[in-house]
Amino acid sequence: MVRIVTIIGTRPEIIKMAPVIQALDGLGHEHVLVHSGQHYDLLMDRIFFRDLGLRAPDHQFELKDRSPSSQVASTIREVAPVTSAADLVIVHGDTNTTLAGAVLANKQAKALAHVEAGIRSFDRTMPEEINRTVTDHLADHLFAPTETARANLRRENVTRGVHVVGNSVIDALTQNIRTAEARSTILRDLGLSKGQYVLLTFHRQENVDRPGPLAAALDGFERVARGTGLEIVFPVHPRTAKMLEALGLQARVASVRGLRQIEPLGYLDLLVLEKNAALVMTDSGGLQEEACFFRVPCVTLRESTERPETLEIGANALAGTDPSRIEAAARRQLDAPREWPNPYGDGTTSKQIAARVDAVLG
Ligand code: UD1
Ligand code: UDP
Repeated sequence: MVRIVTIIGTRPEIIKMAPVIQALDGLGHEHVLVHSGQHYDLLMDRIFFRDLGLRAPDHQFELKDRSPSSQVASTIREVAPVTSAADLVIVHGDTNTTLAGAVLANKQAKALAHVEAGIRSFDRTMPEEINRTVTDHLADHLFAPTETARANLRRENVTRGVHVVGNSVIDALTQNIRTAEARSTILRDLGLSKGQYVLLTFHRQENVDRPGPLAAALDGFERVARGTGLEIVFPVHPRTAKMLEALGLQARVASVRGLRQIEPLGYLDLLVLEKNAALVMTDSGGLQEEACFFRVPCVTLRESTERPETLEIGANALAGTDPSRIEAAARRQLDAPREWPNPYGDGTTSKQIAARVDAVLG
């Protein structure tokens, strides 16, 4: 029997791979699910298995509080006995878990599939850019979300095994939004109404690990809250919470009027909060895509994005962390017409990937 090993480890991998894992489970091959343990808090990990109806991993490892290098090294060492019997290893995205799975497959001479291949920010200071580029160059089967991603790969001479299939973020979202709207009480719980608030997420290493960008962004959030009169709802990523404390910025963030910090949210609550927001401000990859699908305008708190499709159609604007740029971009995006198309596919990405995997494995 053919054996597929899928490796996940972080919040976005669990969410975006849930529909792919479910489609692969339906193929009738042996399908082993591995969790590296990179994310481990209930609200960064287990809650998504429940919200997305995903089965438990067959192998669960621990990476709590490891450095990036030891996240990669430890995952390679611990997952090796599982992948040694694989016919195909599948990884997603651009995390340290992704890189570890890719290098492991290569060292064991196993076929490798990369989901969300070919996207590029062209900023090599981001750990994610290195992780996804290396993974693409090791992969045999590259599931690219858009033609832009395919063109990026072509420029790097990666042309074999590339398939444009959309992004499984749309599968996850379309499969769960109805349940989310039926079950989630988040708007009532937070006392919010449609179109009357901004949703903010902020966790990128380059933004939160240094006091300069973090403090500047807080000034920007204050300006947006004051200038628009909209409350900003901020589910705080654990990395950000830790850095706010380590950099002595907790009192400052608490003093920003109109900025409400909350715990990270489960997927169903997040979807409802996102769909009903007046604006999304974020440095997350997934939120740029989801906001675009919901036709909620987005301001990306970075200098570059590997989701250029969202910029081209006016769904998104780059603002970095400069306070006046954040305020100007927020005002502009709030006034933008919202009839843009969705560039990330029709929610059949996971089926297309499963069909291709089946064809390859025979
Ligand atoms: C990782 C990914 C990033 C992705 C993000 C999704 C890499 C290089 N980065 O960043 O691309 O956007 O996940 O959220 O892989 N922590 C907890 N609890 C958790 C998880 C993390 O407290 O459940 C804290 C720990 O202190 C940890 C820090 O957050 O050291 C950073 O976590 P890590 O997984 O290394 O990177 P992320 O910033 O989450
Ligand atoms: N998300 C969530 N709860 C939150 C914040 C984000 O469910 O409090 C979801 C969001 O809907 C998206 C994914 O997490 O699907 C994005 O993950 P994250 O921002 O951590 O990573 P990135 O996309 O930047 O790699």
